[in-house]
Amino acid sequence: MALFDDAYPANPHPALAELRQAGPAHRVTSPAGIPFWLVTRWDEARRVLTDPSLSKQQPMDGLPPHLRSALTTQMLLRDPPDHTRLRRLVSAGFTPRRIEALRPGIERITDRLLDGFAADAEVDVIDRLAVPLPFEVICELLGIPAAERGPFRAWSDTIIVGGADLVEALSQSVAYFRDLLDRKRAQPADDLLSALAGIVDDGDRLSDDELVGMALLLVVAGHETTANLIGNAVHLLSRNPEQRSRLRDDPGLAPAVVEEVLRMASPSATSTYRVTTRPITLGDTTIPAGEQVLVSLLAVNRDPRRFADPDTFDPGRGDGGHLAFGHGIHFCLGAPLARLEARIAVSRLFARYPDAAVAVAPSELRWRTGVLMHGLRSLPVRLHAAAAR
Ligand code: HEM
Repeated sequence: MALFDDAYPANPHPALAELRQAGPAHRVTSPAGIPFWLVTRWDEARRVLTDPSLSKQQPMDGLPPHLRSALTTQMLLRDPPDHTRLRRLVSAGFTPRRIEALRPGIERITDRLLDGFAADAEVDVIDRLAVPLPFEVICELLGIPAAERGPFRAWSDTIIVGGADLVEALSQSVAYFRDLLDRKRAQPADDLLSALAGIVDDGDRLSDDELVGMALLLVVAGHETTANLIGNAVHLLSRNPEQRSRLRDDPGLAPAVVEEVLRMASPSATSTYRVTTRPITLGDTTIPAGEQVLVSLLAVNRDPRRFADPDTFDPGRGDGGHLAFGHGIHFCLGAPLARLEARIAVSRLFARYPDAAVAVAPSELRWRTGVLMHGLRSLPVRLHAAAAR
């Protein structure tokens, strides 16, 4: 029941509950041996996520200069006033209208992926729905042509997983986006990259480095997290057949179901890193200046001080308040898109395959490891109820 041991990815909650009970913040060590502070209570999490004395700006010493310029301009790695400016410029191209306009496309992609299940008795929902759906949607949104997505998918996987090929994958992606940007400038289309390249706000606009960094952030931030959400939703619904039947009878419940999945099985296990620029006191604990801090979204979204009966999957609780998309100025820009995709994916999957259920015992499921993500690596699902004998 220790943090980050072998049993942790499948069930992080006992270890997190112990920490949360002991106090709001704890000095821990990542599996890679890096020490940081983990915040485990809801009140203190909101404080950490809104306190301007915690900075997102950190040196990227390990990266070659041609990459550093595109990466350090990403808004998730900037404080105000840079963050304010970047977020304002991208928000103009990322409006609720543009997201809602994606609905028919998301439904079409989902239906095509589900059509592909027809011949199978069992499918891996991660491989066949949860990963390809958000990837195709973000490619459509940005305007990455279908024929160019194959290699891009491989680079983006490497960027998320990290490892020896990381710098190479980043270099390829940055070069790819620079080239795509040139093409969009020469021939603008009705897509986000063309829109971002054209946005001028009070005489201000995004530089090429900023545009490339933004495109990369959107792909990387948007893709694996949404895959985790869809996988975790299918998993939780399959383990709660009563809720699965209710959703099947009333697809209007999809928004409430997706919110409860975000709370119970938060797809980003943690926030991203912040560094203290002065000491901060949370409860009895003082975190010194110069330390890395992460919020455990998994822990705070089950904080009994905030959520009654927190370990029960209850889409009817209706009180919102989970921090699965963060809080404050860095609140997830893609939340409306992630919600829309997950609602469409789960309601259409169970409408089409009402008895779809996980095909293996909990102990056989494979989960992603590491600190940042909470999701399944694969999720074998049996599409039809076993035939009556
Ligand atoms: C279920 C899916 C998703 C989850 C759980 C999620 C979670 C988060 C969280 C927790 C943050 C804040 C991190 C922090 O403050 O340390 C964040 C920020 C962000 N997310 Fe998401 N995200 C999801 C999907 C998406 C999608 C689909 C996109 C884009 C298409 C996206 C783009 C972003 C961006 C750009 C930021 C940075 C915003 C800023 O710095 O102001 N995310 N996300």
